[in-house]
Amino acid sequence: MASESSLPPTHRALVLRSIDSPLKVEQLETPKATSGNVVVRVLAANVLSYGREIFDGTRPYPYPKPYTPGGSAIGRIAAVGPDSTVFAPGQLVLVDVVVRARDDTSTNYLIGIHNGFSSGSVKLATDEWRDSTYAEYQKVPLENCYGLDEARLLGDPASGGLGYSIDDLLYIHRLLVPFGGFRDVDLKVGETILIAPATGPYGTAAVSLALALGANVVAMGRNGQVLEKLAASSSKTKTVQITGDVENDTAAIKKHGPIDVFFDISPPMAASSTHIKSGILSLAHSGRVSLMGGIAGDIAIPYAVITFNDLKLHGKFMYERKDIRMLIKMVESGVMGLGDKIGARVEGKFGLDEWDQAFTAAKENAGPGQYVVIAP
Ligand SMILES: NC(=O)c1ccc[n+]([C@@H]2O[C@H](COP(=O)([O-])OP(=O)(O)OC[C@H]3O[C@@H](n4cnc5c(N)ncnc54)[C@H](OP(=O)(O)O)[C@@H]3O)[C@@H](O)[C@H]2O)c1
Repeated sequence: MASESSLPPTHRALVLRSIDSPLKVEQLETPKATSGNVVVRVLAANVLSYGREIFDGTRPYPYPKPYTPGGSAIGRIAAVGPDSTVFAPGQLVLVDVVVRARDDTSTNYLIGIHNGFSSGSVKLATDEWRDSTYAEYQKVPLENCYGLDEARLLGDPASGGLGYSIDDLLYIHRLLVPFGGFRDVDLKVGETILIAPATGPYGTAAVSLALALGANVVAMGRNGQVLEKLAASSSKTKTVQITGDVENDTAAIKKHGPIDVFFDISPPMAASSTHIKSGILSLAHSGRVSLMGGIAGDIAIPYAVITFNDLKLHGKFMYERKDIRMLIKMVESGVMGLGDKIGARVEGKFGLDEWDQAFTAAKENAGPGQYVVIAP
């Protein structure tokens, strides 16, 4: 039998019917919990700095319409299906945006963002798992919910809590993306990692995370002011500005070397940036490259250097489920800080009706630690 707190018959959700017409808040039937899912009351949902570009078609992310967009979120379980063993109504959870097919976990996509690139992911996003977190309630696959230790995370520091707010917890998602890449290339304590571009939302999160993991950081980017801020926040962070001169930039990185890992989180606009080549050229023998950016086309790579230096090139889409559990443990134990502890702060909190302002604020507040929340 499903177990639930009292769910209203209808709820408010943001709906995208066509990229040619604006998003609209609609009154929809509240989803019900059945086998294999839970219904979550969404409290705080992530807004990407490039969210508007997705939902107005500038970044042509495919998705079946109509649908409710969204991102990873923090929420409370509102109803559980009959096969849930660990969740109960009222429980605080992290809702992960990566939906994986149960019968083939290599089939995955980001619910409410894009429908992935396989026939299986398109099928899931079309038939069953279409609507995301820009809504009061979301039906979530059981395996996309992660229980959070509320007493520890939100509790008063005087009684052993970490004193975080719900909004602070949302930054776990921002950290998860680079964590997926770091774990994939096995970043180790004491290693030196080059992060580029290190000035955007995921790049700056990568810097905080690498420091918490005990790595030395070389932060590379175009924006000198943001690089200065990053250098000022930790003596273990060195910076290199992208000048466009591969040889000079490589030499500037190598001064802080040897570089063990190069983590790239380039947006599509950086496809012809020289930092990718200088990043690869600056790696020590057996160095690893983690490619996590959003570049759609091809890029040139220094083939011979990769061969003769035994370099390893890894691509990573998001992260694994075990990475999520591990990062939550790091946060609950205090190893990975949130909020003031790492200079992360919410720059704007918006209701569903204020989606337009939310996308503007997210674009304008994409510096170190800055983020924007939709609170449905
Ligand atoms: N693999 C995955 O699973 C995954 C997950 C999430 C996101 N992503 C990708 O990660 C990318 C980065 O996301 P984001 O939210 O951090 O930021 P974003 O808004 O997409 O990009 C901003 C960052 O890119 C830099 N940049 C922009 N144009 C550049 C250029 N021409 N040359 C060099 N650097 C340039 C900016 O530097 P300035 O400060 O100099 O402007 C800033 O550091 C996204 O585009 C997305 O596709 C991948």
